[in-house]
Amino acid sequence: MFEPRLALASLSGEADAEWAKQGAEWAGAAFLGGVSLDEPTRAAARGIVADRDRSEFLPADPVAFVDRQLSALSGVDVRPGINVRSTTAAPVREVAAVAAEHDAIVEINAHCRQAELCAAGAGETLLRNPDRLVPLVEAAASAGADVSVKVRTEHAGVDLVDVAGRVEAAGADALHVDAMDSESVVADLAAATDCFLIANNGVRDEASVREYLDFGADAVSVGRPSDDPAVLERVADAVAASRRQKGQSAD
Ligand SMILES: Cc1cc2nc3c(=O)[nH]c(=O)nc-3n(C[C@H](O)[C@H](O)[C@H](O)COP(=O)(O)O)c2cc1C
Repeated sequence: MFEPRLALASLSGEADAEWAKQGAEWAGAAFLGGVSLDEPTRAAARGIVADRDRSEFLPADPVAFVDRQLSALSGVDVRPGINVRSTTAAPVREVAAVAAEHDAIVEINAHCRQAELCAAGAGETLLRNPDRLVPLVEAAASAGADVSVKVRTEHAGVDLVDVAGRVEAAGADALHVDAMDSESVVADLAAATDCFLIANNGVRDEASVREYLDFGADAVSVGRPSDDPAVLERVADAVAASRRQKGQSAD
């Protein structure tokens, strides 16, 4: 999926091509976005900007925006991904076709927990409604892109292993799991799926990298400090050292 096995995780309103370029020295992948694709999720993003101290990407034409951002990464040594929010399959298919042209990963956001996005039926509510998540994954896969699904743990009433099986069957290639304070869920997912598993939340140093890789993650990702070279260098060194020790190094 990508090497080295460190990804930069989406930060709405911040994670653009410039951000990815700045982390490319250490990361093998960079998930731009999230970008809201359809009217319900765009209205939710407008509400988040209006009501809270949050920034969002709200370009006039989200698919053209993604195309421009991915084009700006052409020749940069990092695999791009694009994290998208949608309640409907058609715009996911459209953006996935653009992603496929750039060999980028489309990441379906079943993770965000802002009330506005949840009320629209997007983000983490998709974990409770896999019947609505599956068509989004199928739409992305049908356009020929590699597909990741971003999920989070600690969502009442959600069996993440079951969701993982459903999205894998629908064509997902990767699972990007925000483990919150339930790191061992990574081991449950690693045992249950053949998807490439990216572990996220609190990845900052050797101990946090080792914990996730020992639980069976294929890669780790860094979100909030993804603009901090000191953190990225420390995490990248820890990933390389841990994978060397396990005999998994690509070099
Ligand atoms: C300001 C902010 C915006 C975020 N926006 C998104 C988003 O649009 N899509 C997404 O999947 N995750 C989003 N996240 C979650 C991060 O990608 C990541 O999963 C989370 O911050 C935990 O990882 P960390 O401990 O390395 O920061 C956001 C997080 C923050 C703090």
